[in-house]
Amino acid sequence: MSTPPPYLLVLYYSRSGSTRELAHQCARGASKCDGLEVRIRTVPAVSPETAQVAPEIPGEGDVYCSQEDLAGCAGLLMGSPTRFGNMAAPLKYFLDQTGGLWARGAMVDKPFGLFTSSSSLHGGQESTLLTMALPLIHHGMLYVGIPYHPHADLSETQSGGSPYGATHWANPKQGSKLDETEKRLCRHLGERVARLALTLTPR
Ligand SMILES: Cc1cc2nc3c(=O)[nH]c(=O)nc-3n(C[C@H](O)[C@H](O)[C@H](O)COP(=O)(O)O)c2cc1C
Repeated sequence: MSTPPPYLLVLYYSRSGSTRELAHQCARGASKCDGLEVRIRTVPAVSPETAQVAPEIPGEGDVYCSQEDLAGCAGLLMGSPTRFGNMAAPLKYFLDQTGGLWARGAMVDKPFGLFTSSSSLHGGQESTLLTMALPLIHHGMLYVGIPYHPHADLSETQSGGSPYGATHWANPKQGSKLDETEKRLCRHLGERVARLALTLTPR
């Protein structure tokens, strides 16, 4: 029986669409890497109401992530909106259910990259990226950032972008679309994590 091709998981939560756009740009970058599939997954909202009514399969958009999706990936790109300088509860809720994966070391030595969106430029993007890294480091995963070289985007950006991950400033005055630099930074990160995932995948 042939082994299925390795895949990179792009996992995100988004309420109003900005983080979803970051996720899809990261996925575009990752898909440049031959030999690695890209799977995009999201997580349902959590609240006393939605926890009871969230359908198993979302009515539209990306499919919900399962524990198996996470366990089987060769690498991970993960993103959340900035919520008070931290990741949003739905993503944290999903991660808090991954104790079983942690116990069997399912994620050890797999690379990850991060992304976030916030409505103010200095409103906690970097703290969100760094706090999203912590549970993944506990899982034994390897943090992949964005280097300043050879691309000039990180030095020249007028909006999002950080060595700790891809970001978007969803400036309400300018509409919430990603600018070209933010998109390129997502694609650099996606391609970098994908390349490292392929290199680190045991054959
Ligand atoms: C409860 C809550 C907390 C937020 N906290 C912050 C914050 O700390 N800093 C910030 O700049 N924006 C904050 N925002 C704004 C979101 O980060 C921003 O709108 C983001 O782009 C939403 O992403 P989405 O379109 O993927 O849902 C917050 C929004 C909500 C609802």
